[in-house]
Amino acid sequence: MPRRAQASPEHDALRPSPQVRKCLLSDNMRILSVGGTGTLGTAVGETLRARGHELLTVGRKSGDFQADMTDPTEVGRVFDEAGPLDAVVSAAGSVPYKRLTEMTPEDYLSAYRGKVAGQIELVRQGTSRIAARGSFTLITGVLSREPIVTGSAAALANGAVESFVLAAALEIAPQRINAVSPTVFTESLDQYGDFFPGYPPVPLAEAAQAYVRSVEGGETGKIFRLPV
Ligand SMILES: NC(=O)c1ccc[n+]([C@@H]2O[C@H](COP(=O)([O-])OP(=O)(O)OC[C@H]3O[C@@H](n4cnc5c(N)ncnc54)[C@H](OP(=O)(O)O)[C@@H]3O)[C@@H](O)[C@H]2O)c1
Repeated sequence: MPRRAQASPEHDALRPSPQVRKCLLSDNMRILSVGGTGTLGTAVGETLRARGHELLTVGRKSGDFQADMTDPTEVGRVFDEAGPLDAVVSAAGSVPYKRLTEMTPEDYLSAYRGKVAGQIELVRQGTSRIAARGSFTLITGVLSREPIVTGSAAALANGAVESFVLAAALEIAPQRINAVSPTVFTESLDQYGDFFPGYPPVPLAEAAQAYVRSVEGGETGKIFRLPV
């Protein structure tokens, strides 16, 4: 499969030489994709594979490796089994949606476990497992900045992950870490559209490009808010 679309001859002079390209990005990375069989993870995987990278997918019941990212022992086992890696991308996480007055303490803890603790564990264990200049890309969502009714646990979880990304970037350099923070996906409107009245949706293809930017680029400590 071609690594990039063919440019027209008049654009060839503007294309970086192979030597410069080698400095700009790393081809053929080995990438662990947690949630790689889900709606977002599938789109991210297709996009990264089309750019020449190797994807190893993880899910609790699906993917190349079965593991629950909320269990530190299972995360360690996956890193052991996966071998050398250049990057970890996450498209997993679940939180309860209820009105605040119906939330229980356990609901908030389950949001923490389901979306925050698991992604933190990928980074906590991953720093010693991925390449020296490798990267982590985590998933959050619009509700940290533009909440909806029934979304307080989601807002809490997304905000926690985003704050973690800012702090972790300071400590893990030259490894990098970013978060992708989309509104509802255009392709998920049938399922979740009623929760996001008037919110501009974002196509999965656009969300996948944010992962490309995070994995192949040089940025760290960034929250890629979508749509831009
Ligand atoms: N859908 C949207 O419109 C939207 C918008 C903004 C943000 N997001 C966020 O994007 C993420 C993915 O959403 P999605 O709609 O793509 O969900 P999805 O279709 O349900 O996919 C979730 C994926 O994650 C895996 N997974 C879930 N929990 C896991 C765990 N504890 N350990 C390992 N793997 C786990 C699932 O595989 P198994 O079932 O095999 O575990 C599945 O592959 C979520 O964090 C969501 O909040 C979604």
